[in-house]
Amino acid sequence: MITLGIETSCDETGVSVVKDGKILSNEVASSLKFHRKYGGIVPEIATRYHAQTIDRVFKKAILNAKLKKQQINLIAFTYGPGLAGALLVGISFAKALGFSLKVPILGINHLQAHTFSAFIGKKIVSYPFISLIISGGHTCLAYVRDLDEFKLLGQTADDAMGEAFDKVSKILGFGYPGGPIIEALARKGNPNGAKLNYTNHDSGSLNFSFSGIKTAVLYYVKDALKENRRINPYDVASNFQETLIKMVFEKVRLACEIKKARNVVIGGGVSINRALREYFTIASRRHNLRVIFPEKSLCLDNAAMVAAFGEQLYKKKKYISDYYISAVSDLRFGSSSYAANVS
Ligand code: KG4
Ligand code: ZN
Repeated sequence: MITLGIETSCDETGVSVVKDGKILSNEVASSLKFHRKYGGIVPEIATRYHAQTIDRVFKKAILNAKLKKQQINLIAFTYGPGLAGALLVGISFAKALGFSLKVPILGINHLQAHTFSAFIGKKIVSYPFISLIISGGHTCLAYVRDLDEFKLLGQTADDAMGEAFDKVSKILGFGYPGGPIIEALARKGNPNGAKLNYTNHDSGSLNFSFSGIKTAVLYYVKDALKENRRINPYDVASNFQETLIKMVFEKVRLACEIKKARNVVIGGGVSINRALREYFTIASRRHNLRVIFPEKSLCLDNAAMVAAFGEQLYKKKKYISDYYISAVSDLRFGSSSYAANVS
């Protein structure tokens, strides 16, 4: 079976071809450089870029997969969550192509596709498991019973984890996206070298909050400026990153304890972070848990995860979407709204 995947939820225009779970091509074009000077993603710029680029990325994906578009059996595309205009470009492209090729189309939940990215080219870990999504727009935990059964356990009350990295990078005077910048700074720093004035008021729930630690960095920098003190950005980044990683791991551990689960599947852009991967791997052993990460090449937004997840949903659950499907910007991690069932 040959599945085309389309991903346009944010700034990446992704098109991928997957054949029976194997990636034949996975093309991504990004409008990131056009957003940098604004310090974040500008929806209109992202939307226009998708509209101008998607056809070229599609043709490249087909060419590199060494097949003809007539060989496609299914078109899977992200329909939420994400930027409405950006999503609509991918959705419209999928509909037009599906209609002209007379093949089924299937709208995919972007967050669930991130979960699935850890299974590409590998066996799906046995159900049930805990899924953690850590990206630029989302930070959430779900209990996964099956391909289409995600129950939301907790989510962030304020910033997403990636967003906290982005904002702290900005506070320290660095660029966007902040994740890779903070990671590189932290590698050269000492987490004990900068004392961030932060008390963890964690309620013990499965919800996350990153505003406290982010504000601690802000005041650390403001106070230093007031007192004409130089700050060491390496140490600040190192302390901030370590605090965040430990906070998130603790939620994962708690979710596993509550749900009596052992396997944890991680997904989303922040899962590329080396310090996080190392800490989670070591800490999980201590708690008799098993963490599964995607390949680094599949952590950030891509269409291969959409195609691979769509293929499974189609094969195992017989799902397809109808042509009324539209963008759902705030689609939740826990909702399995795969519209129609052909069986
Ligand atoms: O999943 P993703 O590509 O897009 C969304 O769906 O949001 O994630 C993007 C986020 C950004 O906030 C970026 O700063 C973060 O992932 N990120 C990282 C790293 N690389 C990207 N965060 C921490 N460490 C990294 N190395
Ligand atoms: Zn994403």
